[in-house]
Amino acid sequence: MTASTLGRNLEILEKYRKYADMAELRADCLDPDERLLIRRFPEQAGMPVILTIRRDIDGGHFVGGEGARISLMARGLAYAEADRRRNFAYLDIEEDLNVSSLEEAARTFGTRIIRSYHNIKGTDADLPAKIRSMRRSGDEIVKVSVMANSTRDVLELLCAGRECEGQEKILISMGHFGTYSRILSEQFGSFLSYCSALSEPDALPAAPGQIEVRELANLYRFRNITGATKVYGVTGYPLKATDSPHFFNTVFELEGTNAVYVPFPADSITDLMEISKELNVEGLSVTVPYKEAIIPFLDFQSDEVRVIGACNTLTLTPQGWLGTNTDARGFSDSLLTFLNKPNFKRQRVTVIGAGGAARSVVFELHRLGAKALILNRTVHKARRLAAPYKFAWGGLDERGIEKMEKYHDIIIQTTSAGMEGINPNDISADPAATYNFCGREEVMDLVYKPKMTAFLKRASNAGCNVQNGYDMLIRQARYQYIQFTGKEFPEHFLSRVQFGEI
Ligand code: ATR
Repeated sequence: MTASTLGRNLEILEKYRKYADMAELRADCLDPDERLLIRRFPEQAGMPVILTIRRDIDGGHFVGGEGARISLMARGLAYAEADRRRNFAYLDIEEDLNVSSLEEAARTFGTRIIRSYHNIKGTDADLPAKIRSMRRSGDEIVKVSVMANSTRDVLELLCAGRECEGQEKILISMGHFGTYSRILSEQFGSFLSYCSALSEPDALPAAPGQIEVRELANLYRFRNITGATKVYGVTGYPLKATDSPHFFNTVFELEGTNAVYVPFPADSITDLMEISKELNVEGLSVTVPYKEAIIPFLDFQSDEVRVIGACNTLTLTPQGWLGTNTDARGFSDSLLTFLNKPNFKRQRVTVIGAGGAARSVVFELHRLGAKALILNRTVHKARRLAAPYKFAWGGLDERGIEKMEKYHDIIIQTTSAGMEGINPNDISADPAATYNFCGREEVMDLVYKPKMTAFLKRASNAGCNVQNGYDMLIRQARYQYIQFTGKEFPEHFLSRVQFGEI
């Protein structure tokens, strides 16, 4: 609770009561006058409350001296009531704060101590020793909240926690890299997880990486996560925004499957694979830039992965990690449905781009009988991709575009040009701007944000049938679901599991 008055905190608490099991009153966020009135907050809150007065050096807002802070803590404990529900249930005391009278008072009145350590800059090297030494008496809960600047930092915290299994503790990797430590607190061995009412305009985010309370409760079904919950996720970098958790978690919920799907942003795929092992992750969606880098970690792989050289799906099997590529089938299913055709026989197709996405497309075009021309800005990549299939190739220049005349039944745009977020200054980018559509081409763009790229708009205006990459995205995710669970995809739920906004 980070509002500036107690009244406002109570209002927010009321609104989100059903999602929370306890509240943390961040008294450092209160107006100075309000801080004098904290004693009655637990009774008013009607649920167990943690009293925390965070210093600025630990990422909080308390800038007064330690004397003032300690008196405020004492004020929170004073006049203890026989009915313990009227007292603060927990008091957060930093590990370097030595005030034994405060600790004694807390213990006497049944207020448990959360012994906390914060590092808002990074993750300390000596964490296992730190965790072991922090607890001063048997009933204290150790809290370590450190900034993760990398995937390695999250791994360090996770491993440090493993060394003190069985102890009540709270382990948090702050920041973007550590967001999943807040969802998988059971797997991290944490006693609780903190979240914020971030959609309230006056509720400050209490710490970097905190998740909005309803998102934690509804999207990730935090309260249902136990040691028996199957863990899946998506990894990539920077992985700032991904719709996959929405898709998979909704299906799991509708199906009543005890499983959760979380984002695993990773700056090192090696470290992420170690984390996956530690957390018993059973399936991973793999996205940019790791579709190739993941291959050495596979224990075995599908033919598609071997030929295409890219893998977007990892499934844990008794024999180890199986790598598959659901982009390929997702693409061909989508395009064939759009064309209402069983295969690409007698179709002459231009593929624009020769990157990872194009490799899956070209593999499927060949498998299903098309004749294709591959055009790429960097010509040698087009030639290299075309060679094993004996397809034509060229640059995205005048000569290349001229070649399209013989390959224009279907045109497939696979580059990231025109994609939102990739070229922030230029979503109007059109990789084949000099090609004139005659109106009879069937045109697909793998991009789905925006719904219509500049390229697709031009095709549509010329009278072509056009399709974006959204349907392909859904189809490849359905294949991932089948890989992960070994079950058929529940088609009747499809209309309820759209990928966020499209
Ligand atoms: P993906 O997995 O999305 O295909 P990739 O493997 O990095 O990503 O490939 C990106 C593709 O988009 C490449 O074909 C790239 O062309 P180059 O090989 O010449 O780099 C293409 N691409 C990206 N931006 C482009 C632009 N503005 N115009 C034309 N092609 C572009």
